Amino acid sequence: MPLAPGGWRLRKTMGSLPQAMGLESLPPWRRWVRRLGRFLWVMNPAAAWLFLREGRRRALAYLQHSLMLYDTRDALLFRSLEPLWVPKVAVEKAFPGLSLERIEVFHPLPRLGGVSMEELVILCALVRHLRPRRILEVGVAEGRTTLNLAFHSPPEAEIVGLDLPPEAPPAVEEQGADYRQMGLARPGLLLEGHPWAAKVRLVLADSTRIDWRESFGAFDFIFIDGAHDYASVRRDSENALRTIAPGGVIVWHDYGRAQG
Ligand SMILES: C[S@@+](CC[C@H](N)C(=O)[O-])C[C@H]1O[C@@H](n2cnc3c(N)ncnc32)[C@H](O)[C@@H]1O
Repeated sequence: MPLAPGGWRLRKTMGSLPQAMGLESLPPWRRWVRRLGRFLWVMNPAAAWLFLREGRRRALAYLQHSLMLYDTRDALLFRSLEPLWVPKVAVEKAFPGLSLERIEVFHPLPRLGGVSMEELVILCALVRHLRPRRILEVGVAEGRTTLNLAFHSPPEAEIVGLDLPPEAPPAVEEQGADYRQMGLARPGLLLEGHPWAAKVRLVLADSTRIDWRESFGAFDFIFIDGAHDYASVRRDSENALRTIAPGGVIVWHDYGRAQG
């Protein structure tokens, strides 16, 4: 497949949920190289940059966020963190026949709190494999994932992207939970004028205050990545379970070690 402008072609990676990079199958020396890489990734210049620009609190919050959400425990030998709340399953095992080979992703590098490149590859691979006709993304932010889902979904697919209206009170959690806290003027900026966005219907509404099935009908694929506090995630999950079509798939972001 030709590489589209702005895209990256990725080679096959080991897949697991929620992390794409599994260590188990590697020889020991490569595991340690990978761990060192992860360590450097966590202690990345973004934390130093935040420290210089916004102070110790923001830098520590960023590090804590990275440590809690991504599989850096092995790298840091930091065993006191909460254990995984869900079992770890290779994505190819959970979805036999799914291939992580040659997935093009657009805007591969995430902003703070965005889905990692590996997670984006898995989402795109899932959509390519499952070919859902109707997709719901709860929490669009700039629209990076939405755009990638639009590219990988079948031509006739319809994507509803849900995000907060400008008048909504700020999201409960401070860290990356609200597009305004991320410095975005409005959600879906990457979708504006983009040809793939023709498939996307951006809806500005608080996901916890509407009945998704009543408002939009059933969906074959739901990606939940809106508010991150426990009560909202619970409401979104209940809404999703009512709205998912038979045989459909629901994907949650940020669930690994986070209680919400
Ligand atoms: C972590 S970001 C989403 C990132 C995006 N899914 C991605 O993959 O790049 C969370 C988004 O959810 C939105 N959000 C937070 N609470 C929400 C709610 N109750 N209803 C709808 N959207 C919400 C925020 O405004 C923000 O844009």
